[in-house]
Amino acid sequence: MLEVSGLSVHYPTGRGSPVVAVDDVSFTVGRGEFLAIVGESGCGKSTLLFAIARLLSDPARITAGTVTFRGDNLVAMTDRQLSAVRWEHLSVVMQSAMNALNPVKSVGAQFADALRAHGTRSRKVIAARSADVIKLVGVDPVHLNSYPHQLSGGMRQRAMIAMALLFTPDLVIMDEPTSALDVVAQRSLMTQIKQLQAELGFAIVFVTHDMSLVSHFSDRLLVMYAGQVAELGATRHVFDQPLHPYSRGLLEAFPAIRGPKVPLTGIPGAPPSLSTIPNECRFLPRCPQSVAECATRVPELIEKDGTLVRCLNC
Ligand SMILES: Nc1ncnc2c1ncn2[C@@H]1O[C@H](COP(=O)(O)OP(=O)(O)OP(=O)(O)O)[C@@H](O)[C@H]1O
Ligand SMILES: [Mg+2]
Repeated sequence: MLEVSGLSVHYPTGRGSPVVAVDDVSFTVGRGEFLAIVGESGCGKSTLLFAIARLLSDPARITAGTVTFRGDNLVAMTDRQLSAVRWEHLSVVMQSAMNALNPVKSVGAQFADALRAHGTRSRKVIAARSADVIKLVGVDPVHLNSYPHQLSGGMRQRAMIAMALLFTPDLVIMDEPTSALDVVAQRSLMTQIKQLQAELGFAIVFVTHDMSLVSHFSDRLLVMYAGQVAELGATRHVFDQPLHPYSRGLLEAFPAIRGPKVPLTGIPGAPPSLSTIPNECRFLPRCPQSVAECATRVPELIEKDGTLVRCLNC
């Protein structure tokens, strides 16, 4: 249903070389599938999602690639064509609901705006649909009259998700929708998202930096490092046998619930600057298993046991 192919996004800097926030990223998402994208802060996750939904703002530029959604290339669409697709077939839940919701409008008024923009005129239909979707996410419809600041963080995120479901889309893109919540609220929202997905059948692209959060929920996992795909495979596979040393590092940064206690190691160092493209593996300065070749060659994505991995020594 979604095919991202060779997508690159640059932020020009005015100092010569641009920041290459997304560098030649390709992946597909099937109908009803749950794809999780994980990686450290600044590795380009939000930029990638914004590029897919064509919501990038200046100075960001898509410099290469295509995003084929239900057979059409979103990258080549005009704003008008895009607005017909967005919300109805593809919706987005942003990283911060507090910033994404309009603070001076009630939740219900914002739902109504979205419905009207896509041709629903009847006040009765608008009221009924708004009540339906807000109930779907477990919030009492009285809160349609509330303003965003009157809701708790969890309720705001739920309201955002309800809004994304107004038109029963085929694909919902979510950028860390639970990161502002405490661990208990996080789990309950994840469970609810998964239930809604089972009921309504939409596909999800879900960005998070917390690998443990998606371990039980996603079908496939895309590990992103410095704007590129480091590893892409079935979630169970990547969790059981991470191939890329970066994936392993991310996994070891979280405690395991079962098994013996082991010290958490984490990953030393920090991600590289995205404005200078090195002629070596981007993970080399932080890698515990590098070989001489890693300093002289840029690794390609290769397939190994059904998983794609960008590493010369795994
Ligand atoms: N407006 C901008 N101008 C220049 N560079 C930018 C701009 N916005 C983002 N970047 C750079 O693009 C890179 C990717 O940023 P992005 O926000 O996509 O990362 P992220 O993975 O979503 O991080 P986080 O987990 O913190 O949300 C970063 O290195 C960032 O510095
Ligand atoms: Mg982000």
